[in-house]
Amino acid sequence: MNKTEQMKQIKDEILNLKKSPLYTERIKNKVFPVIGAGDHNAKIMFVGEAPGKNEAQTGQPFCGASGRVLDELLSSINLKREDIYITNIVKDRPTANRDPSEEEIEIYGPFLDRQIEIIQPKIIATLGRYSAEYIMKKFNLDLEIETIGKMRGKSFEVKTSYGAIKIVPLLHPAVALYNSFSRDDLKKDFKILENK
Ligand code: URA
Repeated sequence: MNKTEQMKQIKDEILNLKKSPLYTERIKNKVFPVIGAGDHNAKIMFVGEAPGKNEAQTGQPFCGASGRVLDELLSSINLKREDIYITNIVKDRPTANRDPSEEEIEIYGPFLDRQIEIIQPKIIATLGRYSAEYIMKKFNLDLEIETIGKMRGKSFEVKTSYGAIKIVPLLHPAVALYNSFSRDDLKKDFKILENK
């Protein structure tokens, strides 16, 4: 199976994921899972947390206010959405925008693992603390886990089944909307992805 067919298989499995507690929400609220978007051969893969309202309505990752911040950050290092692949750990919107639960991360995590194996990115950039923790644990970086404020903008080299790659934990773009950090703070962290 080629990459597109493998991704399609993941999509079909998620569409039928009746064991997820978020499956019934999908039907009740007429929303969609968000599988991911972008280049299946991307060098950089971004991993967010879970879809928000806009994303669940359209099925597209980061298409609301956080997405606009993300686009600004990408363009500050001359990247476009088409150059990257972007997805989330949890593929359905957690009810009322709450944080993803452990159970949800456990149910959806294996799909993200398979997406990583298919895309084989050279860099995995995580957005927010949930995806940072998931990816760092997956690649045995447990001892390096600190608060996201301390890990942001650092780079960790890890070995994968397809070679050495870098893990770069970044702040979630939504922090710029809550004014806890400025866009310039985030842009400084994004610099680490430049020319990689
Ligand atoms: N926040 C996320 O973590 N992911 C999205 O797709 C949108 C907002």
